[in-house]
Amino acid sequence: MSHSDAVTFSSDERVMERALELAGRGRGLVEPNPMVGAVIVDGQRRLIAEGWHQRFGGPHAEVNALKAAGPIPAGATLFVTLEPCSHHGKTPPCADAVIAAGFERTVIGCQDPAPHVAGRGIARLRNTGMVVDVGVCETLAQELIAPFRMVQTERRPWVHAKWAMTLDGRIATRSGHSQWISNADSRGYVHQLRGRMDAILTAAGTVRADNPQLTARPAGMRTALRVVLDRTGESLTADCHLVQTARQTPVLLAADRAALGDQMRGQLEQAGVEIFFTSGDTRTARVASLLEELGRRQCTNVLLEAGPGLLGACLDAGVIDEVHAFVAPKLVGGADAKSPIDGVGRDRIPELSSLEDVRVQPFGTDTLIHGRMQRRDEIRPD
Ligand SMILES: NC(=O)c1ccc[n+]([C@@H]2O[C@H](COP(=O)([O-])OP(=O)(O)OC[C@H]3O[C@@H](n4cnc5c(N)ncnc54)[C@H](OP(=O)(O)O)[C@@H]3O)[C@@H](O)[C@H]2O)c1
Repeated sequence: MSHSDAVTFSSDERVMERALELAGRGRGLVEPNPMVGAVIVDGQRRLIAEGWHQRFGGPHAEVNALKAAGPIPAGATLFVTLEPCSHHGKTPPCADAVIAAGFERTVIGCQDPAPHVAGRGIARLRNTGMVVDVGVCETLAQELIAPFRMVQTERRPWVHAKWAMTLDGRIATRSGHSQWISNADSRGYVHQLRGRMDAILTAAGTVRADNPQLTARPAGMRTALRVVLDRTGESLTADCHLVQTARQTPVLLAADRAALGDQMRGQLEQAGVEIFFTSGDTRTARVASLLEELGRRQCTNVLLEAGPGLLGACLDAGVIDEVHAFVAPKLVGGADAKSPIDGVGRDRIPELSSLEDVRVQPFGTDTLIHGRMQRRDEIRPD
């Protein structure tokens, strides 16, 4: 491409937006690493090369962009959505590659929250005299790596809650029947979501009522660990789908050490079900101990596909990070029909958590309401 044909960006923000778009191509492929994108431009902000982190264990975004660029001309700038790493991991430090390429300026979306980086990559670049600007499109750059940051700083995965409800806000009839409230298009979206998760969480009530498979069909980029919270393990009967398929797609039972009988434990292990013992006396404490374990296993994104019992425990524990709620134009009625979330809940309206960046999307006659949960520390009573 000659210089006259080259894409020219009108501002630093436009270049960073392109880098963020490229980063998103790694979704579902790079975790537990963060998604990262990089763009190299010349002194007139004309595009020289682009790159992104394409798969876990593969070269980082900066290195891919450098490879595509060839020799870097004087006056070129590197735009990268996340601070270049400064340590030897699966690949050598990107900060060294950026320095060696001879950039006069690097523009960074946000600092890396990983404790072993956390500003060290930026310092390394600045120590060479390079101009380093941090924080261009910072909000978007932070949002992109929110699940990664959660694992790095809070040592637990990012939790997506999904449910399908009727127009009168019920997720099952008074008899517990719920299949299917949402339509085939909505369920197709859920299969895609499952295909980029590290784990799918459910609990005893849903296993008993729905006998779910909790697999992505067709298969996605990742195969999620299927996790069941059940203190006694009794919902996992020998003929349920999860037990029947545990040798093909892993199942983890999160049980209570004192409540799970030896015989049940033996049968489940024989069938290929792995067992983890939660700690704590309350539902919220048990959820927290399970999430901590999943964080230890480097799970980045987990999907909550459960009934009101587990969704309520997760909301009370403050661990729902993102919501995917389908509303179907159907009415079920009945005082005993279940609503999506039990638990303790809140007393007063100003205490409610709201969704941010809400997106409303039609799926045939269903509607998906999607957003990220506002953090508790961001909620200001009126
Ligand atoms: N429409 C939808 O999107 C959708 C999705 C899923 C389910 N459903 C419907 O939801 C209904 C089931 O509701 P549910 O509330 O019984 O389901 P659930 O939340 O899946 O299961 C709750 C059960 O799990 C046990 N559990 C174990 N550890 C727990 C923990 N840490 N936190 C919370 N619960 C824990 C609870 O017993 P303990 O007392 O031992 O804690 C309780 O019996 C069914 O009718 C199903 O069809 C609808």
